[in-house]
Amino acid sequence: MTQPEKMEITSMDVAAQKREEIKKALGEAFPAIFSDNKIDFDQLRRALGDLVDSSKERYGLQWSGKAACMTQVQQLTTATLKPDRNASVDFDNSNNILIEGDNFEVLKTLQKSYYGKVKMIYIDPPYNTGRNLIYPNDYQDGLRTYLEVTGQVAGGKKLISNPDTGGRFHTNWLSMIYPRLILARNLLRQDGVLVITIDDNEQTTLGMLLKEVFDEGSFEHVCIPVVHNPRGVQGKNFSYVHEYAFFVYPSDTKSIANRKIDESEIDWSQFRNWGTESERSDAKNCFYPVIVKDGAIIGFGDVCPDDFHPEQTVIEGDTAYVYPIDRSGVERKWRYAKQSADSIKHLLRAKKIADGYEIEIGKDFGLYKTIWNDKRYDANEYGTKIVGDLVPNSPFTFPKSLWVVYDTVLAVTLDDPDAIVMDFFAGSGTTAHAVMQLNRDVGGNRKFIMVQLPEKIDDNPDFESIFDVTRARIAEAGRRIKESDPLFSGDTGFRTFRLGESNFKVWNGNPDAFDEQGKQLEMHVDHIDQSSSADDILFELLLKAGYPLTTKVETIELAGKSVFSISEGAMLICLEKEITPELIDALAEANPMRVICLDAGFNGNDQLKANAVQTFKARAQAEESEIVFRTV
Ligand SMILES: C[S@@+](CC[C@H](N)C(=O)[O-])C[C@H]1O[C@@H](n2cnc3c(N)ncnc32)[C@H](O)[C@@H]1O
Repeated sequence: MTQPEKMEITSMDVAAQKREEIKKALGEAFPAIFSDNKIDFDQLRRALGDLVDSSKERYGLQWSGKAACMTQVQQLTTATLKPDRNASVDFDNSNNILIEGDNFEVLKTLQKSYYGKVKMIYIDPPYNTGRNLIYPNDYQDGLRTYLEVTGQVAGGKKLISNPDTGGRFHTNWLSMIYPRLILARNLLRQDGVLVITIDDNEQTTLGMLLKEVFDEGSFEHVCIPVVHNPRGVQGKNFSYVHEYAFFVYPSDTKSIANRKIDESEIDWSQFRNWGTESERSDAKNCFYPVIVKDGAIIGFGDVCPDDFHPEQTVIEGDTAYVYPIDRSGVERKWRYAKQSADSIKHLLRAKKIADGYEIEIGKDFGLYKTIWNDKRYDANEYGTKIVGDLVPNSPFTFPKSLWVVYDTVLAVTLDDPDAIVMDFFAGSGTTAHAVMQLNRDVGGNRKFIMVQLPEKIDDNPDFESIFDVTRARIAEAGRRIKESDPLFSGDTGFRTFRLGESNFKVWNGNPDAFDEQGKQLEMHVDHIDQSSSADDILFELLLKAGYPLTTKVETIELAGKSVFSISEGAMLICLEKEITPELIDALAEANPMRVICLDAGFNGNDQLKANAVQTFKARAQAEESEIVFRTV
C-alpha cells in the first residue's frame, strides 16, 4: 500500500543546499571534484592550475574552537517558533515579527522561510568589553542549551562572564559571533546589506572575520567610525567618543543610497557651465533667463532666439533677468535645459553681485561620508533618554540613538520601501522603532524581524527579562507614532513568537525513541505534544514548509471540517483528528499544490491513507499538475 511521505520537521540543511548550488554551477566543468556527495577542493584547485599546499599555514583569522563552530552551524534543529497572540499587537494584520529566543537557534529555524529574502541586517551585538555576558556555545543541542540558559528546564548552563583577563577572551566572543554571521548571510538577499556595530575591543577581529564570511571578491567592506558619545568615555590615555559600524554589501550593486544634505551643509556652485562644451552654441535650449524678484528666483523665461544677445543681468523695474554670461562677456549655457529647470528650482539661489545677480545651484544629495558625526547620534540623548521616556523603569543600558539606526536603515532602504529589516540582537528594539518611524516619515512599508534573548533582569518589578523591555518599547513606540499622525496607516503592530521545542515529539532526538538497531520506533501513540495549540502546530508547519511567519492564513470549511488555507489555497493544512473519505475528496477537489494532514487523523487506518495518496494523484493527473501530500 503506497503511504504518504512524512513531512521534514528539522531546519533546512544549509550545507546540503550549498553543496547542491556548487554542484549545479561547477558540476559540468569539473565532474571529478565531486565524489561521495562531497567536494574535493584540492582537486578543484589542481584543476585550475594551483599548487596545492598541504601544510596547515593559511592567511586568515584562527582561534581554538573555530572548526567546531561549523559543526554547530550544520547541526539541524527541530526547534520551532510558537505564536503568542496575547503578547502581539494586531497579530492578524501585522507583517512585523518579534521573536523571543537565542538568535542562533532562531536563525536556524528561519533558514527555510527567509533564505535570500532579507534586505538588511542591522546588528549591535554585545561588544566584549570584559563586563558583558556571552551566550554559551553548545555543539550538541542548541535548543537544550537555550532552555537551560533561560531556566525553562533544569541544567547548569548559564550566560558566561568573559573577563579580558581570562584566557579565552577573544575566543569566546568569536565563537559566539561567527556561526551567527554564517547563518545570517544565508538570509540576505542578493543585494542585501549587513551593518554590524562594534567598538575597539573586537573591531580588528570582527573586520577579519567579516572578510572571511563575506569574501572580499564579492563584497565591499566599509568600517565607519560613528561619534556616539561626544562627551567621551575616559580611558587611561584617550577619551573615547566613537564606535564603529561595518557596512558589508555586494560589490556589484549601488547598495547605499545618496544622503540628503542639511541646508547648512549644502555645497553651492555656479549654475552657469564653464570649461569645455559650456558655450551657448553647444546647447541652445540652455540659454534662457532666470527671473529674480526681491532676491528670490520666481521662474524662467523662454529660450532666447539666436539673434538675441542680452547683458548678463537685465533689470526691468523690480524684476531681474539673469543670463548665463560670464564675467568676460562670453555667452555660455545653464547646466540644465529650460524644460528641466522647474524641477530643480528649489536647488537654485540668486546671489547679489554689484551689477546684478549670479545664479548658484546647491547639491542636496551626496554620498554618505565615511565618518559619521551628528549630534543626533548621541546614544545618551537619543538612546537612553528615548527608551527611558517610552518605557519608564526600563533597566536597559546602552541602547543606540534612534537616529543613527534611522539614518542607517534609510541609507540602505531608501529605494526599497518594502524591505525586510532584521536585527537579531534587538536589545531595546531601536531598529524596530526606526523602521516604523521611517515608514511614517518617508513613506513605505518596510517590515522588521527582531530577535531578543529573554535575558533575566534581577529585582525589577516591571520586567522579568530584556525581552519584555523590547516588547514594551516597540509597542509603545508604535502607539505613539500612530497617535502623532492619525493619517498614517502604516504597520505599527507585530506578531510575537517564542522559541521552543517542536510540537511533534517523535523528532525530538530523544534516545528513548530509538530501538536497539538505532531505528526510530513507530509511535503508535499520538506524537503531538498535548499542550500544543492548533496555532502552535500551524505555525510550525508553515515554518517547516518554508512559508514566512506573516503568511496570511484563512480558515475554510471542507466536508464539515475546518482546514487552514495558505496562500489562497496553494497549501492546505488539516489538523483534523478524524479524517474522512469525504474530507480527502474535498481537499483534492480544492486542487491545492500541497496538502499536510496529521498522521493521527487517520487513526491507524492505512487503507484510508493509501486511498488519499491515490485520490490526490488522480486529481493531479486530471489537472496536469502535482499535489504534494505529506503527513506529520
Ligand atoms: C548591545 S545590545 C543591543 C542594543 C540595541 N541595539 C538597542 O539599541 O537597544 C545586545 C543585545 O543582544 C542580546 N543578546 C545577547 N546574546 C543574544 C543571543 N544569543 N540571542 C539573542 N539576543 C542576544 C542582549 O540581551 C542585548 O540585549
